[in-house]
Amino acid sequence: MTDKAILRALRGEVLPTPPAWMMRQAGRYLPEYRATRAQAGDFLSLCYNPDLAAEVTLQPIRRYGFDAAIMFADILLVPQALGLDLSFVAGEGPRLSTVTDAAGVANLRPVSDIHETLSPIYETLRILTTELPSETTLIGFAGAPWTVASYMVAGRGTPDQGPAHKLKNTDRAAFQALMDRITEATIEYMSAQIVAGAEVVKLFDSWAGSLKGADFDDFALEPARVIIAELKRRHPDTPVIAFPREAGDRYIGFAEATGADCVAIDNSVSPEWAAEHVQKSGCVQGNLAPHHLVNPAELENETRRVVQAFSGGPHIFNLGHGITPDADPDNVHRMLAAIRG
Ligand code: CP3
Repeated sequence: MTDKAILRALRGEVLPTPPAWMMRQAGRYLPEYRATRAQAGDFLSLCYNPDLAAEVTLQPIRRYGFDAAIMFADILLVPQALGLDLSFVAGEGPRLSTVTDAAGVANLRPVSDIHETLSPIYETLRILTTELPSETTLIGFAGAPWTVASYMVAGRGTPDQGPAHKLKNTDRAAFQALMDRITEATIEYMSAQIVAGAEVVKLFDSWAGSLKGADFDDFALEPARVIIAELKRRHPDTPVIAFPREAGDRYIGFAEATGADCVAIDNSVSPEWAAEHVQKSGCVQGNLAPHHLVNPAELENETRRVVQAFSGGPHIFNLGHGITPDADPDNVHRMLAAIRG
């Protein structure tokens, strides 16, 4: 068996020092990322250029020695592979063509076609399997169906996912058909990532927090359960991390209900609460607030607090959400020094 620290934590081992990585660790806060993105031309060209995508994945590993590398890509490549137009407007975020009714769902490309668009991502993973240090775990990922659907329905990021809620509430059949299509595509995409070398996969449900009550069960929990069950059937040894961001109380029992090996926790709940209520089910990942890497007055104290709170069980140190472009790269060294003592 392997000795990689992340894989040990995911198997439930309690390690003296938690392994650590950061969401968006390859990103705009790093000057070398900005240089490589400029070389690629733009963000999407970078995602689809395997050599340069592998390069930006490796940059934070070289600089900081994180325990995991997350492949460089984006959750919105799946809608693009299903036939939507996608662009990133500098300073404004993503723009997509939309799916707003049953005809829009029927017009999507079949799931069997997604690999045509996504094959460069698998090549990025194959490159990384040969380039990464032997102790570094390679993580693949996809967006969870609700979060991906929220962008496909609205055509952009929305503060409250209003358009997706509206479709769900007014044309349930069309919305469910969209969710089913994304669920199926996500299974095929993540499965291909594992075949290409991903050792762990993570499902990002960034907007799970806007689903309440039965909607949370139907559109956050159930798709995650279906995706994880099929991945486990095909790849029983590959751990899955689920991130139902801002799920609050619904973090409790999420791992048992979905079959996830680890639940990632955002920073809207305290690490002490998550240790008591969520970590009893197994490994957890999280949850330092990203703003401490911008304004570091409490950086070391808060980092040690997270490590201490989760020290009684399996834990992977991470932020509660992605590192922001205005973070100071030196603060990441300070965070790691506080984790590693
Ligand atoms: O280092 C890593 O974490 C791996 C790469 C990664 C990116 N996006 C690169 C990226 C991952 C795992 C994602 C996931 C992602 N993408 C999510 C889920 C996680 C989360 O943040 O909630 C979501 C919702 C997206 C969609 C997305 N991509 C948005 C809304 C934006 C625009 C906002 C922004 O930060 O500019 C992106 C762009 C994006 N994805 C960037 C990066 C590095 C910045 C683009 C740039 O370089 O200009």
